[in-house]
Amino acid sequence: MTDPNPAEMSEPDIPARSFPLSARAPGKCILFGEHAVVHGRPELLLAIDLYTQVTARRAERYRLNADTDPLSRNPYLARSISEHWKNGPPLEFRVSTRIPKAAGLGSSAAFSADLGAILGSANGGVDRPTLAQTAFSIEQGAQGVGSPGDTSAVVAGGVLSVNGGKGTLLWSVADAAASWKVRRVRDPNWSWLVAYSGIPRNTGATVRRVGERLAAPDGPALLEQFAQVADEGIAAVEAEDRERVGRLMRRNHELLREVGVSHPRLEELIAAVEDVCEGAKLTGAGAGGSIVALPRPGRELEAARRITRVGGVAFPVRAAASGATLVEGTAPPVTPATGP
Ligand code: MEV
Repeated sequence: MTDPNPAEMSEPDIPARSFPLSARAPGKCILFGEHAVVHGRPELLLAIDLYTQVTARRAERYRLNADTDPLSRNPYLARSISEHWKNGPPLEFRVSTRIPKAAGLGSSAAFSADLGAILGSANGGVDRPTLAQTAFSIEQGAQGVGSPGDTSAVVAGGVLSVNGGKGTLLWSVADAAASWKVRRVRDPNWSWLVAYSGIPRNTGATVRRVGERLAAPDGPALLEQFAQVADEGIAAVEAEDRERVGRLMRRNHELLREVGVSHPRLEELIAAVEDVCEGAKLTGAGAGGSIVALPRPGRELEAARRITRVGGVAFPVRAAASGATLVEGTAPPVTPATGP
């Protein structure tokens, strides 16, 4: 018998394990290019060090925290089960999270990635590029629209670009109509501030509204401006040019205002931190949700204080070092049936 090839023996990124299983994924914030990325333009994202953890175990019937009928109420879970656990026994899921819900900070992407990681592990293990595709189809299936930027960020961790930049290609993710290329961007290791307005928003509805706005005669020109700002933003982060990044964040926010997704509360949060930050903008779908700001060195605490003073919820964040992972120690490794 020949020795097994070590490459064949190496475990997938999310290895095969048996229940109970836990997975943990970071949130995300978008630095440049939200909305335009849905239309194929470039985007820059940061996985942020706020996490969602999901634990799953076998049970008598499906359950999600206190909800005893989650398959009819939670489209993310329903989609995950119908695509990846169709004939499996019922499972009970527990979710704990520090990512505010419907805030533009990746709560649904992190939940989708955790579900994909847990079911992928129970199904024999899954590599990160496949998990990125799985998490996207769970999230897009539940929301009806969108790009794979958010789900790729929470699967990859760190900083990454979509349809732009010159970094290593991590993976491509596709839906029935389009395909997006996801690349690694070197993390400049800066402190960021994200701040939630307290106004929840609906990504699907906002993406559709912007799609209608971009169908107007000036839509193509606007999309080109989004693309130019995102391309320059990616280059500025790669060059670790804080002042240029801040200027481009402000420019990106003006474009988002132009397509109608700012909100008086977001403007108030931005105004509160403007003179202690290089730049600030809304992040995610907008129309509520959150802002992201790059505080000037030494002004991080002051920026957070100003957000609190105007009634926002401040989260000082850095890029999350890694993307979605199994939380080992909750489950025994699977013993191969033919093993020693
Ligand atoms: C939402 O976080 C970002 C959007 O660009 C939608 C998407 O890319 O799926 C608005």
